[in-house]
Amino acid sequence: MITKTQEKEKDTYVRFENVTKKFGSFTAVSDVSFDIYKGEVLGFLGPNGAGKSTTMKMLARLQRPTSGTVYIRGNGHLEELNIKNKDYLLNNVGFLIENPNFYGNMTPREILSYYAELKGYPKSKVKKRVEEVVALVDLSDWIDVKMKGFSKGMRQKIGIVSAIVHDPDIIVLDEPHTGLDPKARTEIRAFIRKLKEMGKTVFFSSHLLYEVSEVSDRVAIISKGKIIALDTLENLERMARGSIIELELHDFSIEGKDAVLAELQKIIVPLTGLNAADNSISFNSDSQQFEILFDGNPDNQYAIFRALFENNFKVVEFSVPRADLLEDLYLKFMNEEETEELQRKQAKMAQVSA
Ligand SMILES: Nc1ncnc2c1ncn2[C@@H]1O[C@H](COP(=O)(O)OP(=O)(O)OP(=O)(O)O)[C@@H](O)[C@H]1O
Ligand SMILES: [Mg+2]
Repeated sequence: MITKTQEKEKDTYVRFENVTKKFGSFTAVSDVSFDIYKGEVLGFLGPNGAGKSTTMKMLARLQRPTSGTVYIRGNGHLEELNIKNKDYLLNNVGFLIENPNFYGNMTPREILSYYAELKGYPKSKVKKRVEEVVALVDLSDWIDVKMKGFSKGMRQKIGIVSAIVHDPDIIVLDEPHTGLDPKARTEIRAFIRKLKEMGKTVFFSSHLLYEVSEVSDRVAIISKGKIIALDTLENLERMARGSIIELELHDFSIEGKDAVLAELQKIIVPLTGLNAADNSISFNSDSQQFEILFDGNPDNQYAIFRALFENNFKVVEFSVPRADLLEDLYLKFMNEEETEELQRKQAKMAQVSA
């Protein structure tokens, strides 16, 4: 009989369990635990320096965890990744970790054949396989051309197919979109979708929200070494969407603000689904509205609405703004500098399109 736990494990291809990586006293990855399931595309989103590459390097065994364990599926069950079994376990994983830096004097055929054989792909089938994967990224015409004349995007594509040439079940791509123009990025998105259709399990990172949200089944957000959210896009969006209620009161004068705030704290905070410590009900003097944070659960939203009426708050406006959902959630966790940079860009875009 298969128990529930075993059944779940059956679908798990990779597991990080309480994984921490320190460089000296600096903690780059902090107590990270998550599973990657068979056949999913898991997007790994986080600002520069968040710990994405370090996490992926521990999966490739290019870095060893300071503590905690990485498991990879082998022989039908999860096995702890260690120095003894790493070659055998990693044969079922393909990696694009650093920006590919290929030797200019080699051709895609030469490099990819080398990788395929290194990873144990049957020698007699390598030629056909290499031609197949190069066709996947539309570079068949370039298969025997020395790579020194290749554009950055072409190199990146060869780098990506080098991760799949030995036909692994699990594909790990660190920033596959980096440095590519919009057309090439679109192609990479299509390629990731194609991998999923082929039944592959894909774990890829980006600091670009759009690239992640377009192709991922689930998204893990990492910030300062910690996974701060991991869910389906739909659920993340729901969390981000419902998080603020804007409340306007009839006959309100600013002198009464503190009394109203105190009363809202007492009555409403227990209904928000958030810890009192995480919570803040505040007054926005520009809009003259009170702002109530809550967890986005519609049941709680209704309970708050009802409590306001039952306690005789003279509500003239009660609204839950639909902000740019996931973007808000992500921005919340990005460091200030990057947030400002993005906002400057958005303002510029808005000017251009106005
Ligand atoms: N070998 C190392 N020695 C010391 N510190 C390191 C080392 N590798 C990474 N770090 C630090 O760990 C943190 C996480 O780095 P990491 O490369 O994992 O971030 P990242 O999320 O991949 O960022 P990016 O989007 O810029 O690629 C950074 O502060 C980085 O400086
Ligand atoms: Mg990185």
